[in-house]
Amino acid sequence: MQVTTSSEHPERLLPLVLDWYARHRRDLPWRVPGTSAWAVLVSEVMLQQTPVVRVEPAWREWMQRWPDPAALAAATPAEVLRAWDRLGYPRRALRLRDAAIAIRDRHGGTVPRTTAELRALPGVGSYTAAAIRSFAYGERDVVLDTNVRRVLARALDGAALPAPSLTRAEERRAEAVVPADPATSARWNIGLMELGALVCTARAPRCGSCPLAHTCAWRRAGAPGDVHAARRRTQPWQGTDRQARGRLMAALRDAVEPLAVTELPDWGDETQRDRALAGLVADGLVEVTPQARYRLPEG
Ligand code: ADE
Repeated sequence: MQVTTSSEHPERLLPLVLDWYARHRRDLPWRVPGTSAWAVLVSEVMLQQTPVVRVEPAWREWMQRWPDPAALAAATPAEVLRAWDRLGYPRRALRLRDAAIAIRDRHGGTVPRTTAELRALPGVGSYTAAAIRSFAYGERDVVLDTNVRRVLARALDGAALPAPSLTRAEERRAEAVVPADPATSARWNIGLMELGALVCTARAPRCGSCPLAHTCAWRRAGAPGDVHAARRRTQPWQGTDRQARGRLMAALRDAVEPLAVTELPDWGDETQRDRALAGLVADGLVEVTPQARYRLPEG
C-alpha cells in the first residue's frame, strides 16, 4: 500500500463524493429514508452476487410477501427458493431464511445493530454487517465492497484495481478515510459505492464524468494496467456445474410434484447431472423423497 499524499487526502475527496452522489445517485427502493433494517438486510444479501436491475423487482415482491423477519421465518424452504427464482446462488435464500429465524428467536424479531451480533447471523459477512450498520442504522462503519475498493485503489493508491482479495492493509486504509461523523460516513460509503458502480467501473471507467478525475492517483500515474491481471479468476458459465445446478433448480422450482431423475432436464451429460444433483442435496437445496424423487425442501 502506498502512503497517500496531501493532494489525495480524503478531506478533499469528501465534498466531491457527497456532491456527486446527491446529484447522480440512483433512486433505489432500499435507499428510501425510513427503510427498515430488515429490508436493507434483504437487499444486501440479494445484491451480494446479483446485479441491481435483477434485484429490484425481486426485492419488491419479497418485501411485500415477507415484510419482517418473523414472516420469512414462518415460510418453508421451498417457498423461499421459489421466490428467489433466478437471482442465482440459491444458498443465499436458505441462509436468509435461517437469519430470519435467528432474528426472531434471538433478537425478538429486530435486526441487531452490533457487528458481533450481525456477523453471527447466517449469510452475513463483514461487508453485509457494515452495510446494515451504516445504511440502516446510521452507525459509523467501513463499508468495503468491490466498488468501494476499486475507487479507493485508483483514487488513493494509483492502482488499476485492488488486490484479488481484501487485505488487512486495505481495510485499515479504508477505515482511516471514513469520516468521523456517523451520518456523513454513511453518505461517504454509499457515495463511493455508487461512484464505483456508475463511473469508476472495472473495465471502462468514465473518467470524463468523474468528480475525482483531477485528483485521482491512478490517472496521474498515467492509468497503468492491472498488476494482478494474471491472478484474477473469471467465472465461466456455459457448461459449468453451476449452470447444471441452475437448470436442475429451475425444473424443481417449476414442478408441482416431486420429480424422478428421468424427469429432470437432460443435456446429454449424466455424470455432470448426477454430480450437480448430489451437490444440491448436500447443500440442503433439494430433498429426496422416500420414493427416490426430488423436490425443493418442504420443512
Ligand atoms: N445501495 C446500498 N447497498 C447497495 C449495493 N450493495 N449495491 C447497490 N446499491 C446499494
